[in-house]
Amino acid sequence: MKYSTTTSILAEARTDCLIATYGQCKRTASQQGAGRFFNAAMTDFDDKPGKTLLVSLGTSSPIRRMLVVGGLKGSVSASEFSKAVKSAAKALSAAKAKSALWALNGVGVKSKDPYWKTMVSIGALNDTFYSFNTYKSSPTTPATLKTVALHADARTRANVARAVRHGQAAGAGLDWARDLGNQPPNICNPNFLLKEARKLSRKPNVSVSALDEKKMAELGMGAFIAVTQGSSQPGKMIIIRYNGAKKTSTAPVVLIGKGITFDTGGISIKPSSNMHEMKWDMCGAATVMGATRAAIDARLPINLITIVAAAENMPSGKATRPGDIVTTASGKTVEILNTDAEGRLVLCDAITYAARFKPRTVIDVATLTGAAIVALGSHATAVYANDDDLGDALIDAGEYSGDRGWRMPLWDEYQPSLKSQFADMANIGTGGAGSVTAACFLSRFAEDMSWAHLDIAGSAFPRGPQNGATGRPVGMLFRYLIDQA
Ligand code: BES
Ligand code: MN
Ligand code: ZN
Repeated sequence: MKYSTTTSILAEARTDCLIATYGQCKRTASQQGAGRFFNAAMTDFDDKPGKTLLVSLGTSSPIRRMLVVGGLKGSVSASEFSKAVKSAAKALSAAKAKSALWALNGVGVKSKDPYWKTMVSIGALNDTFYSFNTYKSSPTTPATLKTVALHADARTRANVARAVRHGQAAGAGLDWARDLGNQPPNICNPNFLLKEARKLSRKPNVSVSALDEKKMAELGMGAFIAVTQGSSQPGKMIIIRYNGAKKTSTAPVVLIGKGITFDTGGISIKPSSNMHEMKWDMCGAATVMGATRAAIDARLPINLITIVAAAENMPSGKATRPGDIVTTASGKTVEILNTDAEGRLVLCDAITYAARFKPRTVIDVATLTGAAIVALGSHATAVYANDDDLGDALIDAGEYSGDRGWRMPLWDEYQPSLKSQFADMANIGTGGAGSVTAACFLSRFAEDMSWAHLDIAGSAFPRGPQNGATGRPVGMLFRYLIDQA
């Protein structure tokens, strides 16, 4: 989808479909001489949030159809606006329009500006028109809509145009994250993620490199190696560098993604029911890649380094056994009591590696624990931070973008549950709070940095038969990066 900004006068507009409030549609129809036609079609319309009506004005009319969006008169709340916009996007997709003029930026939304309204509108459109059809012989939902012009007036134009640029970038990043997530695990292996990441190196100020297993062994990444060694697919630590800040010396933000391209559990093997869902165990990687692409496309003036810890967790004759003790890149030793707690093992070595970039902040994103789903379900990403400013910034970014997180504790009281009889720590906790103890494990490798951890096991993909990658938390991360610029 291509988005643009227009300041044309609605009365003179020419489009396949105008999307506007009841009042705007009525005025515009009468200005174009189709008032009587419009009024007749609208007799039973219920002007409430969530209601829409598509009205045909005839093939000779410069505006061929109007999509009347209900519930937007006067000033509305942010959630009412979001709801109305979502139903408008759905109705527009059913209308099978080729081009559209989106004129909802004039609606008054309490304490929100045109930038926010445009971002929310583009977000809803992008979400509605997303589909993943790569492996279908005949796609069921061919998207007909190619271009959407977002209406602005002279006063809001700059603001709306900036949101169109950002919204376009966010949409591309989100779609890419969802596509990567939805790929089957026989295609999406660590090397596939590397090849996909390399596509970013065609863009200005971007370079992509990777550490192979030999290099990681030299760097002492015993925890990462313990996860990848059971698989015939070689593991990769992928590094994407984006230099958008004026000075190359400006401290970067580092994003780290869990890229387990399939998680069988290893020797601590998972039950077979729903095991296919573990193809989504690379959604942390997919979403940090998506957020990175959004930042690059939006040309944000920041320095950003994205690290993807990509490996497959398989049982085999070479696989790690429960009871094995490994040395991490930090020098700390870990007793692996459960090979299914593999995400923290690849991430701890990635966090240690991140320190060499002298980062401003480090944020890791991972489908880390089933316990995060127990705690929060699918609506909130679990947010952990050893720095309250960073934690607050992520919560705010989630609130703003409608991709919400909820702060979780990292209290010292939880730490002793990771005690090991034989090594510095075990890779699993005891006594419940599995998402918290997993975060506590990671925190031990991030002591000297401003660090946050996002457990997205609940928000990255919904449970059930019709599920697919949500692309979350690309929205939260992209907003956080915009705030850093
Ligand atoms: N990838 C899983 C967590 C997960 C489960 C994500 C369901 C999304 C949906 C992770 O590697 C895992 O297996 N975690 C274990 C940890 C346990 C062994 C301490 C879990 O949550 O059961
Ligand atoms: Mn696991
Ligand atoms: Zn996993």
